[in-house]
Amino acid sequence: MDLVNRLLNILVPIFSNHAFIFFFPVYLCFQSVHYVWRSIFSENMAGKVVVIAGASSGMGEHIAYEYGKRGAFLVIGARRENALREVAETAYLLGSPRAIPLRTDVSKVDDCRRLIETAINQFGRLDHLVLAAGVTPVSLFEETFHVTNFAPAMASKAAVVSFFETLRVEFASDIGITLVTPGLIESEMTKGKFLNKDGKMIVDQELRDVVMSATPIERVERLAKAVVNSASRGDKYLTVPPWFKMTFFIKMLLREAVDWFNHWFFIPEPGVPPTEAVSKKVVDIPGLKDILWPDSVRSPKIKTN
Ligand SMILES: NC(=O)c1ccc[n+]([C@@H]2O[C@H](COP(=O)([O-])OP(=O)(O)OC[C@H]3O[C@@H](n4cnc5c(N)ncnc54)[C@H](OP(=O)(O)O)[C@@H]3O)[C@@H](O)[C@H]2O)c1
Repeated sequence: MDLVNRLLNILVPIFSNHAFIFFFPVYLCFQSVHYVWRSIFSENMAGKVVVIAGASSGMGEHIAYEYGKRGAFLVIGARRENALREVAETAYLLGSPRAIPLRTDVSKVDDCRRLIETAINQFGRLDHLVLAAGVTPVSLFEETFHVTNFAPAMASKAAVVSFFETLRVEFASDIGITLVTPGLIESEMTKGKFLNKDGKMIVDQELRDVVMSATPIERVERLAKAVVNSASRGDKYLTVPPWFKMTFFIKMLLREAVDWFNHWFFIPEPGVPPTEAVSKKVVDIPGLKDILWPDSVRSPKIKTN
């Protein structure tokens, strides 16, 4: 056993380096041809049925509009019913033949079941399912009295990528899964709507400035268009804006440097308020927000029910 592992420690890196050098260019060519093929024969969404969880604001809302413009039937869910109803009306005006709003809390299994059953019962099929519901926790772990306060966020995020990657292996080509990794996108979250250390939803733009600092925020319409194009093309992954992909490589290649930088940039000395972080001072440079952020995120106004 030990001998086998020792041998593999030597052979696997040598083999993978060679395989990478020889096969990677071929693989890239195949990927490019496949991409062009999928773009030409991309799915026409007119008359198709789409279910969207988390459609009352932000990315889910605008993905609903994008599918609506392409003529898809919609069943949209979230907890704020009035906001959801308005989104359904707008999607209808934009071109959806019918958009059904349904009060849904994705942390309740029965609600999720009802959302899917409504699509099947009303339209007899389900073509795309968009999971955009979620909340973002912002506070230092040290300041959190009960880790369970983060339960709503954990339910929406924990191991989501690995879960769907595993599911993709199980389903093979029967069901396509597009995993979207957004950078910063115009939404209620980037207005500063967070889950605080006590497990309550708050809007705190000072804290938003600390966390987001001088990162450009992409317009949500562009994200929505990219998501629907990508799902209709059958892509496996999508990052919006595309430059954000580089941050994953940088993190992988320079782990220690990134950890050190993040600590220095985002975390103030003990006892110093978060608003004194370097990240906040940088984004407060006059005129910077005007260049990097859409106007909408400057207002703390979010939808009430
Ligand atoms: N915007 C970004 O830059 C960014 C970047 C990376 C990841 N994300 C993640 O993307 C997801 C979408 O957020 P967003 O940016 O579009 O922000 P958003 O405007 O706050 O939208 C969140 C949506 O999720 C819904 N939602 C939250 N909890 C729910 C629950 N228990 N049941 C049903 N619906 C629920 C909200 O509706 P109700 O409150 O009406 O239920 C709302 O429609 C979040 O998980 C967020 O953390 C966002």
